[in-house]
Amino acid sequence: MDKKSLRSTGKRVIGFANQKGGVGKTVSTLSIGAGLALAGQRVLLIDGDPQGNLTLFFTSDKSSGFFDLLRGLTEGGFSQIENYILPEVRENLYLMPNCQRELRSLIKDAQITSIAEAFIDHVRLLKSRFDWILLDCSPSNGALEKMLVSACDAIVVPLEFQVFSITGLSGLLDEIKQWGGEIGREIPVEALVFTKTEKRISRMNEYREIFRNFRIPIFEVCKSEWLPKAVELGKTIWETAPTSYSAEDYYRIVSQIFLGNENE
Ligand SMILES: Nc1ncnc2c1ncn2[C@@H]1O[C@H](COP(=O)(O)OP(=O)(O)OP(=O)(O)O)[C@@H](O)[C@H]1O
Ligand SMILES: [Mg+2]
Repeated sequence: MDKKSLRSTGKRVIGFANQKGGVGKTVSTLSIGAGLALAGQRVLLIDGDPQGNLTLFFTSDKSSGFFDLLRGLTEGGFSQIENYILPEVRENLYLMPNCQRELRSLIKDAQITSIAEAFIDHVRLLKSRFDWILLDCSPSNGALEKMLVSACDAIVVPLEFQVFSITGLSGLLDEIKQWGGEIGREIPVEALVFTKTEKRISRMNEYREIFRNFRIPIFEVCKSEWLPKAVELGKTIWETAPTSYSAEDYYRIVSQIFLGNENE
């Protein structure tokens, strides 16, 4: 692959976004974040979804660092950034949790408001402490997602091979372009990660052809019982089935998109 890795281009704040639900945003954030941590990288995961799925994976505490951070930015009383991050959830892996459904109502304005600007500034601050900051977005495209995407250096879009993904992706790309325009910088979509793919189904080949037209690198993660099982057990794919095909697929993404081929 001749495309430069995120590491070599210095893009280190990466959002996992798609307004469509259940396409593998959380599992991808988790698997890639944990994979980077295993490779010795210091990684912060931010749970930007009011559903709090990423948080529930790691802890049953109703901890809401992300919500508290945003509330601190809106209402004052902001404290040290460390207070919003849980202690290491795995070696090299940190989480800014969120278990607050009211998260969305904090950011009502569709414009990039002062809270969003303050959040973007804080993410910039965090960049000096982590090699990677990965943001798990929710299945929506409101002001919250706009704020999260605007704080990112680049976006990865998890999605599925199906007909509605085509118009969904076009809409998402338009929105990301518009949001980037509003803050005066490009937010590139670095990769499309098709999850739950099945090699033997010939229709998939037609979809591969269609999605190539978007001219964004395509990666695939095969459909596997291991991923839902790992989530149920509260373990990452690297802890449950490191030699499975899906682990191999996520390894390829970590090494090619994030770290560069030299790490393979
Ligand atoms: N490659 C895969 N093979 C099989 N199941 C998968 C795969 N990837 C994800 N899943 C399963 O699909 C479901 C949805 O995944 P996930 O929660 O990551 O999606 P999401 O996009 O974050 O959803 P939401 O939009 O609700 O936040 C989960 O049950 C997950 O275990
Ligand atoms: Mg999710």
